[in-house]
Amino acid sequence: MSCLISRICRMAMAPCPRVLVSLTASSSSRTRTYSSSPIASSVEACHQSRITSVQLKEKELSVHWNNTSTVDLPYVFLRDNCQEPESFDQVARQRLFNPAFTVDLNIRATGAEVNEEGRQLTITWPDGHRSRYKSSWLRQYCTGNTAMSGRLPVETFYWGSDYYEKLPRFDFEELLKDDKCLLEYLLKLESHGLVLVENVGTQSQQVKRLCDHIYYPKPCIYGIDVMKVESKLDASHIAYTGVELPLHNDFVYCDYTCGIQMLHFIHHVPGSTAGASRFCDGFNVAEALRKTNLSAFDMLSQYPIQFVDAGTDTVGDYDTESWHHTISVSSSGEITEVNYSNHSRGPHFPAILMDKLHEWYAAYYEFSHLMNSPEYLIEFKVEAGQMVVFNNRRVLHGRSGFKLQGNDYRYAELCYMDWDEIRSKARVLMKKY
Ligand code: OGA
Ligand code: ZN
Repeated sequence: MSCLISRICRMAMAPCPRVLVSLTASSSSRTRTYSSSPIASSVEACHQSRITSVQLKEKELSVHWNNTSTVDLPYVFLRDNCQEPESFDQVARQRLFNPAFTVDLNIRATGAEVNEEGRQLTITWPDGHRSRYKSSWLRQYCTGNTAMSGRLPVETFYWGSDYYEKLPRFDFEELLKDDKCLLEYLLKLESHGLVLVENVGTQSQQVKRLCDHIYYPKPCIYGIDVMKVESKLDASHIAYTGVELPLHNDFVYCDYTCGIQMLHFIHHVPGSTAGASRFCDGFNVAEALRKTNLSAFDMLSQYPIQFVDAGTDTVGDYDTESWHHTISVSSSGEITEVNYSNHSRGPHFPAILMDKLHEWYAAYYEFSHLMNSPEYLIEFKVEAGQMVVFNNRRVLHGRSGFKLQGNDYRYAELCYMDWDEIRSKARVLMKKY
């Protein structure tokens, strides 16, 4: 574990282009990389980057690097990103001016020189202002970012049906006591999307303790902080009955689907399979669909569909509706979200989809069968005293059905958190270590 942390921390401190995910498919050795360079080599490249020379052009500065590459940077970009104290508050880490009002769009540097053996560039501007840039800073930002997301700098680990043996496990008290362990946990949530917390005990409110230790739980239409998952009469949600709960993501019927779900089992029904939890790596399944049936993938990623949920819970009556793409893809082609909940899917479809509905259903059928296939699905009984924590925008979850007899009962407590807080805490801890 400490190995991963030190590698991540080197990455976090290293001024290098942000490298996104080399993806391992179905927890096998199949690896796909979106960026041109793997993480380790780009960290190395950034450390060694030196500017060999620069050339003043009409609208941009040509920067020549010691790896023989050249990058042309518009003057307006360089002036906009001046790091001097008049331009940028180094403590608040915020820009102090808006170039739209103070910098001529066609500004041109009057001079540029390379200092400190290629480790620094100094630019002089027409008003006499001088901007100094570290070569590592320039290297980090000069080639743009292919990921364009705020995710943590860890490789995405894609998993399939053999994941249970590999499931990252964390000790509850250690998470509360040891920030290095907490960082490892937060990073694993990003990379793997599903982890198990053990030795939680069977007291109530433990899940809130973990949220509060990070920041706070997310309130939602089901409750302010801790939700109770138990069977009840007149249940407003099938989760609160004993029926089989098919694979789904929570909150697809809200615009802001929650990021993380933490489910702590306090009491379980007897038997090894009754009420057992099911999970599937939605990113892995979506990638598989993209590979085997691109037109089905396009159907599910190009049209948003309707989700609805209405009922009554501890906060009162609710009635929600939202529209999401079943598979969300970023402009760089990365799968960013899976939004799937058959039981909450509404009857309305986008008007422009109405003449392609049959194709849409075909794609939906294929995706649904794939995620439930033995290659991608894992099922295990989360024991009382354990907590499963997962990325609700990636991992589909469900459970097998169960029947209560005699004094049997099944009781779990549930909290949600958002990715903003998870990632914020991880970045704070990465700086600390
Ligand atoms: C839910 C849910 C899982 C379970 O409440 O949304 O998915 O195991 N519950 O009961
Ligand atoms: Zn659920």
